[in-house]
Amino acid sequence: MKQSCAHKVYEQIAATHGAAEGIRPGGIQLTKRALAWCQLPPGSRVLDVGCGTGFTLGYLSDVHRFVATGIDASSLLLDRGSARNPALQLVGARGEHLPVAGDYADGLLAECSLSVMTDPDRALGEFRRVLRTGGKLIVSDVYARNPDCADRLLQLPSTCCVRGAVTRERLVERIIDHGFSVDLWEDHSDLLTKFAVQLIFAYGSMNGFWLRTASDSVDPGEIQRAVSEVKPGYFLLIAHKVAGKIGCQERIRRNG
Ligand SMILES: C[S@@+](CC[C@H](N)C(=O)[O-])C[C@H]1O[C@@H](n2cnc3c(N)ncnc32)[C@H](O)[C@@H]1O
Repeated sequence: MKQSCAHKVYEQIAATHGAAEGIRPGGIQLTKRALAWCQLPPGSRVLDVGCGTGFTLGYLSDVHRFVATGIDASSLLLDRGSARNPALQLVGARGEHLPVAGDYADGLLAECSLSVMTDPDRALGEFRRVLRTGGKLIVSDVYARNPDCADRLLQLPSTCCVRGAVTRERLVERIIDHGFSVDLWEDHSDLLTKFAVQLIFAYGSMNGFWLRTASDSVDPGEIQRAVSEVKPGYFLLIAHKVAGKIGCQERIRRNG
């Protein structure tokens, strides 16, 4: 994927959609659910990777009293966040190369951002590096609910924002392989449906959305067909960093 593409889509959505509660399905609702589950104490060091305009970040600092830092690849979105709230700690960087010391964080959120990163495996390696052992990884994102058509999205243009969605099985395997133990998986696909309705109001139709965000040369009908086959859903996953990479053993144990 061209490096700039993933940001352009969200800069466009933020401009049209207003990004009042973030640029993702569910707004702050899933963040609240995840934080209630994790029970991190005030003063915890928390990173929000792919933070966009930093809406969640304000919530982390103001409500939970965390030492919260937002990281995003889009300087335009970070500038919007700083203009709205100059107190936010915002850093321009990619999830694949975090400018953060090892074992720094007690918690790390990736809200609708892991699937749009150029190299999610590299990003997961970075998430593991910067989290302390036992630190919480909170991921909410789109996933492919039809495993038979999961590779269908890879045929879409690199500018299409759902292209990086994978199946639940693939994602869980990926996270375990990077040295995490998965504590919670919840389906929240109803939030994706509501978000799609908001996009239809903003762009006139899903075809209108694909046309505006995926690039001039794409066939929006083709994207819509692929998306219908893959049946995208939305999930919340919570994991914690384990001591030592136990991915292989864990997989053997799970498979008997
Ligand atoms: C769907 S938006 C979600 C933004 C924010 N988490 C929210 O919920 O409002 C995806 C975000 O990921 C950012 N992004 C894309 N690729 C990235 C990368 N490689 N590293 C860091 N951020 C990235 C985009 O700029 C965008 O802000």
